Amino acid sequence: MNFEILPMTLNDIGALMEIKNHIGWNQLEADFKFMIEYYPQHCFSAFSEGRVVGSVTGINYENKIAWIGMVMVHEEFRGMGIAKLLMKAAMDSMEECKCIKLDATPAGQPVYEKLGFVPEWSITRLINTEFICKTKNVESRAEPVWEDDMAEICRLDADVFGVDRSCLLLRLLREYPDLAFKITNNENGKITGFCFGRNGYKYRQIGPIVAGNSLDAFEIFKAASVCRGDTSLVLDVIDSHTDFVDAMRHIGFSAQRPLLRMFKGPNEFTAQVPQYFVIPGGEYG
Ligand SMILES: CC(C)(COP(=O)(O)OP(=O)(O)OC[C@H]1O[C@@H](n2cnc3c(N)ncnc32)[C@H](O)[C@@H]1OP(=O)(O)O)[C@@H](O)C(=O)NCCC(=O)NCCS
Repeated sequence: MNFEILPMTLNDIGALMEIKNHIGWNQLEADFKFMIEYYPQHCFSAFSEGRVVGSVTGINYENKIAWIGMVMVHEEFRGMGIAKLLMKAAMDSMEECKCIKLDATPAGQPVYEKLGFVPEWSITRLINTEFICKTKNVESRAEPVWEDDMAEICRLDADVFGVDRSCLLLRLLREYPDLAFKITNNENGKITGFCFGRNGYKYRQIGPIVAGNSLDAFEIFKAASVCRGDTSLVLDVIDSHTDFVDAMRHIGFSAQRPLLRMFKGPNEFTAQVPQYFVIPGGEYG
């Protein structure tokens, strides 16, 4: 069978949403649109006789890290080399970036290993399946993020994540201001932690969360989850934060699936994991 790999366009989104929903992922059309609008050169769809059967998206963070996401192939077309073709197209488009990273599902991991990706660290997706959030109406010392905070927050995020991703954070603040919170140092007023969030197809996703310690990370999370006891929440938590994970389990969260962060190329721009608690989602880093 012959497959064509072409730049992803807005016309592909309907078919890609069907494939994504069948897999059970959480993204909205807005996530595809963001990728196509900002990083069209790194996003590709796979076609079989004119039908959309797969995708890959990519983000270029300052030519330092390229981020691959949304690698998916329609069930009927798996095992035919389509993911490999999509990955090749995306990787070719990222030649200027020093390092390529992604978060692999167990299904994706063997595909990426064959392409030379190696593990960095692991992540667990936590969800509150019972639709209860025991933080409802609990006070938090975190405060809302305002536009004026963004320069400081983006600098802190770049220090912690390793590269600038203000484009993503500004979008999250613009679209979901009620999910953006910060925590500041009592003495000097400096911002030491923050979170953003977004709506998803099945769950509201909280992340990224950056904080100086696990107590602050939990405070920030509480602020973002207050009054949202009616909505199921999801967080992709970095596994080394065992205190934070325990606190989340205590309020009704449980593990849904693992993700493995993998990279190819020199890993010069590494995240400061002690301050990086929750990622914004595997497709964003
Ligand atoms: C993961 C996924 C994208 C793979 O797509 P695919 O088109 O079937 O993969 P390919 O046929 O291109 O396989 C590429 C290589 O990986 C290998 N591979 C693929 N799936 C494998 C598996 N489950 N176990 C072992 N090897 C596997 C293939 O044998 C092939 O090896 P080769 O280069 O030696 O021939 C597809 O299974 C899928 O959409 N899964 C659900 C969504 C998902 O989890 N995506 C990954 C997100 S990180």
